Amino acid sequence: MKYGYFDDENREYVITQPDTPLPWINYLGCQAYFGIISNTAGGYSFYRDARLRRLTRYRYNNVPCDLGGRYIYLRDDETGEFWSPSWQPTRHDLKNYTCHHGLGYTIIGSRYSGIEARTNYFVPLGEDLEIWRFTVTNRRKTRPSLSIFSSIEFCLWDAQDDATNFQRNFSIGEVEIEGGVIYHKTEYRERRNHFAFFACSRELAGFDTQREAFVGAYRGWDKPAAVERGRLSNSVAHGWAPMGAHHVKLDLGPDETQELIFLLGYHENPAEQKFDPPASQTLNKKTVKPIIAKYLNGAHVATAFENLRQYWDGLLGICQVETPDVHTNRMVNIWNAYQCMATFNMSRSASFYESGIGRGLGFRDSNQDLLGFVHMVPARARERLLDLAATQLPTGGAYHQYQPLTKRGNNDVGSNFNDDPHWLILGAAAYLKETGDWGILDEPIPYDNVLGSEQPLYEHFQHSFQYTLDRLGPHGLPLIGRADWNDCLNLNCFSDTPGESFQTTTNKDGRAAESVFIAALFVLAARELAEIAQRRGRKDEAQRYLAEAAKMEDTVRKHGWDGEWFLRAYDDFGRKVGSQECAEGKIFIETQGFCVLAGIGLDDGRAQRAMESVSKYLATDHGIILQQPAYSKYYLELGEISSYPPGYKENAGIFCHNNPWVMIAETRIGNGDRAHDYYARINPSAREPISELHRCEPYVYAQMIAGRDAPTHGEAKNSWLTGTAAWNYCTITQWILGIRPFYEGLEIRPVVPKSWRGFKATRRFRGVTYHITVERAGPGNQVALRVNGVPSEGAVVPAPAEGQREVTVDVTLT
Ligand code: GLC
Ligand code: GLC
Repeated sequence: MKYGYFDDENREYVITQPDTPLPWINYLGCQAYFGIISNTAGGYSFYRDARLRRLTRYRYNNVPCDLGGRYIYLRDDETGEFWSPSWQPTRHDLKNYTCHHGLGYTIIGSRYSGIEARTNYFVPLGEDLEIWRFTVTNRRKTRPSLSIFSSIEFCLWDAQDDATNFQRNFSIGEVEIEGGVIYHKTEYRERRNHFAFFACSRELAGFDTQREAFVGAYRGWDKPAAVERGRLSNSVAHGWAPMGAHHVKLDLGPDETQELIFLLGYHENPAEQKFDPPASQTLNKKTVKPIIAKYLNGAHVATAFENLRQYWDGLLGICQVETPDVHTNRMVNIWNAYQCMATFNMSRSASFYESGIGRGLGFRDSNQDLLGFVHMVPARARERLLDLAATQLPTGGAYHQYQPLTKRGNNDVGSNFNDDPHWLILGAAAYLKETGDWGILDEPIPYDNVLGSEQPLYEHFQHSFQYTLDRLGPHGLPLIGRADWNDCLNLNCFSDTPGESFQTTTNKDGRAAESVFIAALFVLAARELAEIAQRRGRKDEAQRYLAEAAKMEDTVRKHGWDGEWFLRAYDDFGRKVGSQECAEGKIFIETQGFCVLAGIGLDDGRAQRAMESVSKYLATDHGIILQQPAYSKYYLELGEISSYPPGYKENAGIFCHNNPWVMIAETRIGNGDRAHDYYARINPSAREPISELHRCEPYVYAQMIAGRDAPTHGEAKNSWLTGTAAWNYCTITQWILGIRPFYEGLEIRPVVPKSWRGFKATRRFRGVTYHITVERAGPGNQVALRVNGVPSEGAVVPAPAEGQREVTVDVTLT
């Protein structure tokens, strides 16, 4: 069953039923001011950091779910009846309910009792505020008297503290109201110089800023006392729970439409100009007033919305494809690229499943997110790479996470995830291939943000490389540390104490447990580094990287192969993990995908065998399972992976992030049919018809789909913020369609299904637009290029002459 439909032309997903299996969300903002918004207007907003600068309050895991948001109530003042045009929180039986989730905006509309209402929520580019553009149309024959109420609940900035420290928080809330604008200024008197504002374009009949005055004691957002009464009480919050509500009265003639604008925003004042007059405790509003005035003006709002649409047209225009498969086209051209921006911006911090308080930006996560984003805004990818490198430790290791606001490594989680350092090399290589910006390698970057420790970025990579060589185990494979990519394979943890963190508890000395996955990652990173060294004129160094990669590859052959597939690891006792010898967890996906994608086993038939084993033991209709058989009990020596019930998360769930590694591996052995088949199995758009089972949004990837051992095999969980987005985007565009940025130019090497007669693509790359047409003349993957009509050697389109902006590439596959 479906709950809506794709409108590809407008680049929207249109939801037609409000009670989707789970809230289906979207993101507002793409630079500094962000919000999440559900299809019924639930969600919250923040400035840069979802934990430390939370503007509005949201209660996760609430009952009923997804309550708290950007709510507007409509009230018929003649009958006293009131309802929410976004369905929540009053949940009336609305007519024509639709939610259009678009790129950076959400429009929710409906009709009830002859009144049509529609709210367009979006964040203008370059501004730290969100706009709610509300239009209301009277479809009655009469002229009703209507009241409109807005409402939001302010968060006292630090979302973690806000949800726990009530003995203090109930006494600190402060607001100001001036000219109909509600200013939230809790903690402004002392150490903050920022505040929030909530404004309305119309003259107010009243306002409220104290939650209890608006909602009423022992009531909920579905039945606020003030809305029921039809009158706000002009309450001024002092302590307790500051909120914002406006009341506007409207008389509408038949078929008349009116527009109202609400603004919710964030603003900072220079520290020395916080107050006006300076000796007072009154907010200095001089700098914010022009911004508010600008966006309370409908013409400016319309322009800002148009600019946002154009911004996305531009970003998505960088890579557009036309293949025989509608789901491929839709995801590549619209939604997968869009999701890549969200994962790049948010990492794993704020979604319907990430509460915005738990985690900062992950080191490995951010480097991988960058893979799917770098072509869109390379300047931001550059900045991110440098920020990440600055949290690297002098040992070459890395803090596992950092807080985006402070850009400091997170001490609570610390370091010693032994895969982390290599993702920096892979992220940087992707950046270099896309941009050719070799200057980045000379940027002086500190270690652990310590002033004076700066070294060129390039030397950070050398440290990353060396980190693994300094930490080899008994078989010559890399020691795993706290975990590798699989955060839940905690081979040094041995935790039997409730509440201990699997990620940070270490009860072993870490000198035995080894990871075959890190070995593969090392091989790949070392080869990427060699390419970079080569082009920097460091030939000897390049040779050394290649030699170490070859040596590691050899070690994997000797100690990392199980006969039919690649082993996963060795535990602290030196026993195999992911082997025929194991009772459970005999075969894992990560090493099959990653070894082959790193090139291991391509020349001796092992790659083919590993891929056959994946198909035989791990592939399901809903995607490829992480490992089999699932762990049926807790293994002290394996850690968190065996803590999950079978079929979920890392314990035999379909952990979508690693499925693309297998797809890439299939392309590396020339199997386009299987690569695309695996791609289609987890493609959210292709799963739309089974939305009732899948449950998450059909327009974005989820982290996990329940594996065959779970009672709800096929059910997705944890949508939006997952490395799945970037990896699927790279896999389909660069490996299956085969359009791959390379140092010397754009490489084109498709490995597509045999049944495809061809496809078309446009790709902007270093300022040049490539118009690519691929035609199949035979069943294989051999490519012959013609560039601007002239046959060209190899698969890399050479950079065109200076000034040439358009290039036509015809590719024949035989
Ligand atoms: C989560 C983490 C990621 C990890 C993966 C597998 O997605 O964010 O860092 O690699 O789980 O455990
Ligand atoms: C949990 C999650 C896993 C994530 C890890 C790190 O263990 O299951 O996916 O990577 O936390 O935060």
